[in-house]
Amino acid sequence: MTPVDAAELRAAFPVLEQVAYLNAGSDGPVSRQAIAAATTELEHQRDAGRATAHFEHRRELCDTQRCHYAGLLGAAPENVALTTSTSEGIAIALAGLPLAPGDEILCAEGEHPGLLGSLQAARDLRGVSVRFVALSRIADSLGPNTRAVTCAHVAWRTGETAPVEALAALADSGMPVLYDGAQAVGAIPVDVEELGCAIYAGSGQKWLCGPDGTGMLYVASAWLERLEVTRRGYASFSEPSAGIDAPLCDDARRYDTPSLSAEASAFAIAAYELLESFGWDAVHARGDELASELTLRLAERGHAVASRGNTTLVSWHSDEPAAVKTRLADAGIVVRDLPGTDLLRASVGAWNDGHDIDRLLRAVG
Ligand SMILES: Cc1ncc(COP(=O)(O)O)c(C=O)c1O
Repeated sequence: MTPVDAAELRAAFPVLEQVAYLNAGSDGPVSRQAIAAATTELEHQRDAGRATAHFEHRRELCDTQRCHYAGLLGAAPENVALTTSTSEGIAIALAGLPLAPGDEILCAEGEHPGLLGSLQAARDLRGVSVRFVALSRIADSLGPNTRAVTCAHVAWRTGETAPVEALAALADSGMPVLYDGAQAVGAIPVDVEELGCAIYAGSGQKWLCGPDGTGMLYVASAWLERLEVTRRGYASFSEPSAGIDAPLCDDARRYDTPSLSAEASAFAIAAYELLESFGWDAVHARGDELASELTLRLAERGHAVASRGNTTLVSWHSDEPAAVKTRLADAGIVVRDLPGTDLLRASVGAWNDGHDIDRLLRAVG
């Protein structure tokens, strides 16, 4: 594995010239290449109009975007739908699961509203019950009515990882396991075959540095027929012109978001290809190393770092998280606080460097 040429990667992201940008867990930094690709698309639409060729081009862009996402997930493109976000992917999946009143979904504590929202809808609209347990115990907490298990692959507050081996064993026994991969895709290696999960939802705008409004939904082959398609449009059909009886695509395109702009796809593709050109293994390894370094140095300074896994999120307790975040922002250091907790969170990507970490540590004290 050739290590990432940090100077070359950093040069792609203008924001890094001014700011210690440690916020990819919210939205990744935007590259020159991605802006150029999106701009080219828009200019073409301005000059050529948007007729049949435009729609064909959009479809081609979607194919490329899907292949890229699939490659990163270790999946076949046929098992990957394009969405606008992790939240949308989870919503599509949870609405489509065959669940009846009285069935239970088991979920980890402290999950993101992007997952909780869909669970609330399942509870309020379908009479499903939801039970929360600690992430570390999720695989051995099933009850008699548990019909699905869901959690983040990487916990958004702490960077803790799910007990993937125990969950894979559970998935092997036929239990649908749904991962929220918002803080994992692009940040750490993901292999959906190894995870054995039925569903894996991820974001394009975070660790892939794509535009807001992009994401992916993996549906395992065994679930393609069983996961109902609760929302259908042009993109869901293999023959859209066949009217009300139009057949659904026989692959995961049936779950595609109804409309994705060419400029968003082009942005997402260019952002992906930039990172890919440095090698995903190397990108993952560098993010992990820098996050570990930050963890150690925060601890050396007496900060209480939340228990975490080998991920790119580093959270630590603070008496005044909101005030510290603002103070750091004023000093050109972008991290976030996590409302409802006393935590501050730094998201450390391959594009960061020791200087970013030094700046953060100096400012935090
Ligand atoms: C664990 C987790 N899940 C879901 C989301 C929501 O992601 P999206 O905006 O792509 O729906 C986030 C965003 O921060 C997250 O951290």
